[in-house]
Amino acid sequence: MRFILFVGANNSLAPAEVSVQIPSSVEILPSVFLFDEKDSDLAINKVSRLGCGLKLAVEVPGYSGETTSLADLIKHKNFSITQLGKAASAGVGQAIKNEMGKGRFILAKDSFGLSPIILKKHTVDEFFVDTEKREVWQTIWFHDFRHWIEKDRHMPFADARAGMLPPKIARSMVNLVPFSTEKRTLIDPFCGSGRILIEAAELGFNVAGVDISEKQARETELNLKSLDLGGRIEVLDATHLSTRFSEVDAIVTEPFLGKPNYRPDQVRYIVPGLEKLYLGALKDWTKVLKIGGLVVMVFPILNDGKKVYKTSHIIDEKLKLSYNPLKRDIIYSRPGADTKREIVILQKI
Ligand SMILES: C[S@@+](CC[C@H](N)C(=O)[O-])C[C@H]1O[C@@H](n2cnc3c(N)ncnc32)[C@H](O)[C@@H]1O
Repeated sequence: MRFILFVGANNSLAPAEVSVQIPSSVEILPSVFLFDEKDSDLAINKVSRLGCGLKLAVEVPGYSGETTSLADLIKHKNFSITQLGKAASAGVGQAIKNEMGKGRFILAKDSFGLSPIILKKHTVDEFFVDTEKREVWQTIWFHDFRHWIEKDRHMPFADARAGMLPPKIARSMVNLVPFSTEKRTLIDPFCGSGRILIEAAELGFNVAGVDISEKQARETELNLKSLDLGGRIEVLDATHLSTRFSEVDAIVTEPFLGKPNYRPDQVRYIVPGLEKLYLGALKDWTKVLKIGGLVVMVFPILNDGKKVYKTSHIIDEKLKLSYNPLKRDIIYSRPGADTKREIVILQKI
């Protein structure tokens, strides 16, 4: 069976996450991925684990290309039809409504169809049609936005000053690890309030985390607990991880990125300190990881208006013999943020 997955528009992590988790998928339109799967349950199971997934639609076989032939497929009062990849228009829906003599057509705002919030609020039969290819797709799943909002806004502890990853970004980062989660250990050595560990634990990894701040370590523990998740959390400097951990499958982390709200003239003094920290940590982690183990790590890109400082360049120098860079240049930044983030995937040699 064929499926199309809709991810959030302009989500720069989505192509990497989808290609790791659904390697056979193809991006057929911006933010729309096509893939094959045996049945709908398996497809839903796959996409519901993603951070980037918003909606899933399955191909409805036997479509003649006549939009009015869709009338038979509409089982509920509310329906919505969008031309795949085209601006939403009321024409098709109106024609079907006339044909059926009943029903309530809901016009989508854009080519992505209706938002999951609207789909949840009203029971809607939602379709996407490609009149040229004579294909029709029906939405069968949308993401559990309530659970994501809960994790984003209502955790017991959140320290915006220490920096927090949005849960969906944390989930996408964990999903850049291509291993099955069973009996695998994943560590975040700069765990902060535990956003990465929460996502990894929800996916089924055995998780552990350390933070140099006792307060942060305690908050990670309590945040995990509030979702009935557990993990081994300790107070430790990330550059000394090997004193307590070994034989680890993956390290996924957003490290200390420098104090927030620095002035441009401070950047050239901040960068060497950060690079020293990352280098010390990555050297230590060669003793923590199994051979073939992975590091998924955020490196900040700072800019003082005169020069761009890409801290990931340390990989090309002293770490060449220890790690193979598998992927670089996955860039994301928060709206209005001065610091851009580059996500890099390294494999221990
Ligand atoms: C950007 S925050 C991580 C936030 C985390 N990803 C989250 O979303 O909750 C960086 C964390 O690194 C910790 N940290 C700073 N230097 C450290 C070091 N040398 N070893 C371990 N943790 C350190 C800070 O206390 C802070 O909690």
